[in-house]
Amino acid sequence: MSAPEKERSSVTLDTIVSLCKRRGIIYPGSDIYDGLAGTYDYGPVGIELKRNVKEAWWRSVVYERGDCEGLDAAILMNARVWKSSGHVDGFSDPLVDSHGPSRKRYRADHIEETECTRYTVTDVTDADAPVTYDTQLWAPSKGKAKEFYQAWWERELGLAGKRVKIEAVEGSTRKGMFGPDDGGLLGEPRNFNLMLTTKVGPVEDAAATVYLRPETAQGIFVNFENVRTSARRKLPFGIAQMGKSFRNEITPKNFIFRTREFEQMEVEFFCKPGHLCKDGELTDEQWHKDWLDRRLSWYHRYGIRPENLRTRPHAKDELAHYAKACYDIEYLFPIGWQELEGVANRTDFDLRAHAEGSSKDLRYFDQEANAHYYAYVIEPSAGADRSTLAFLVDAYREEEVKGEKRVSLKLNRKLAPIKAAVFPLLKNRPELVAMAENLCADLRKRVYTVYDDTAGIGKLYRRQDEIGTPYCVTVDVESLEDQKVTIRDRDTMEQVRIPATEAIKYITSGIDEA
Ligand code: GAP
Repeated sequence: MSAPEKERSSVTLDTIVSLCKRRGIIYPGSDIYDGLAGTYDYGPVGIELKRNVKEAWWRSVVYERGDCEGLDAAILMNARVWKSSGHVDGFSDPLVDSHGPSRKRYRADHIEETECTRYTVTDVTDADAPVTYDTQLWAPSKGKAKEFYQAWWERELGLAGKRVKIEAVEGSTRKGMFGPDDGGLLGEPRNFNLMLTTKVGPVEDAAATVYLRPETAQGIFVNFENVRTSARRKLPFGIAQMGKSFRNEITPKNFIFRTREFEQMEVEFFCKPGHLCKDGELTDEQWHKDWLDRRLSWYHRYGIRPENLRTRPHAKDELAHYAKACYDIEYLFPIGWQELEGVANRTDFDLRAHAEGSSKDLRYFDQEANAHYYAYVIEPSAGADRSTLAFLVDAYREEEVKGEKRVSLKLNRKLAPIKAAVFPLLKNRPELVAMAENLCADLRKRVYTVYDDTAGIGKLYRRQDEIGTPYCVTVDVESLEDQKVTIRDRDTMEQVRIPATEAIKYITSGIDEA
């Protein structure tokens, strides 16, 4: 019998959130003003990690392939783009409001049926004259809703400080759609468009309203002809773009997993529709499979453990309006299996829609077949923030070393925010400090290196382990004599002593091999 599939990663999201804040990886947005829901800021260490993730992605989809071009389109686009793409009419989530005391709003498709019970509350302060209130409110039979209601009863019925008895109404238990926070009955779902708007120009009229792009993909479609002709491309070829996207998510949650402002890394790969392919030409379905395999191996290559990744085909009723087929690459986050990236076959939906919307001919002329047709599109669409979170979670390690807890981020060395840290063993020896500073300056010419002399060596190692620095270089008294330094490896904690002049080569080759 095979082992049951794990349902959560072993590290909790709270642990990651707290490490991120403490070590300058990610902070809540607008922190000193109590934050702004769904926004986060990357600190000095986090920005390096995210830049490395994006760089690794760009390298694999643009530099290493030869059949993809890069693009950086504007975030603000003509509003007609979003009409043609279907976002104005269809980019919405079904929303439901709770009629419970919280009045909270939820995504209807995120709510599961729950077992609920109606409760009465009885004021038993005067045991001889108990007063019972039927609140007509429903609460989940299990969970925190009962306590929530207790606070409400205290407030609404003036029972604070009184002795109360809370009892389920006999036979009232039933299944239904209830708000997960307060158990309130949920109303009918209504559609809520997720696009954020802003105004351009000095005139405050409807024509000045533009959208903040909810995906980078459309910037690629509207530039299909520009890129194809200027780069003299024939099918198949792709266009890659990474950049900010914005969605007015109803419930931004789970740290940087779902935010209102985030970065996407998307490729639109244009190919010949399968039904027009001759023998030996790859069909859109074959390209779809090829991209899925390549994207999975990218995550493996940069260190995500294979057992924490899986692919999930979309069921027919789950497919986006533009897709013929789609696979989610899912990662085992601390909140369970969730989408990390979607790899969709968008057919010719987008080019056709923009051709109609703009009245421009976006068909491809296939010289060999002497035919015009719309290219099909395979779209691997990843989130830079979600990937960064997955790399962080997967790299997180806790172990006991000599009776002490050691936390380390076992990040792929290419992704590691800081590649090397240099420590002088004694900071009161000027010649030793000078040697360490010179070495640090040399290393900085090749890799991001930091200098630290603000603690004992053990603490300095632990600080760097926690943010995933693969190499710690120590300059000690002997170094002044033999011109050698000690390099300690983050993962094995093994130390090598080599000439200081070879430190750069040692570190850069370790990173190149990663
Ligand atoms: N162009 C297709 C598209 O945008 P999507 O599944 O909506 O597809 C693609 O988004 C990826 O963008 C997701 O797999 C996820 O990694 C990231 N993403 C989407 N919404 C996000 C959000 N609110 N916060 C963080 N990342 C998000």
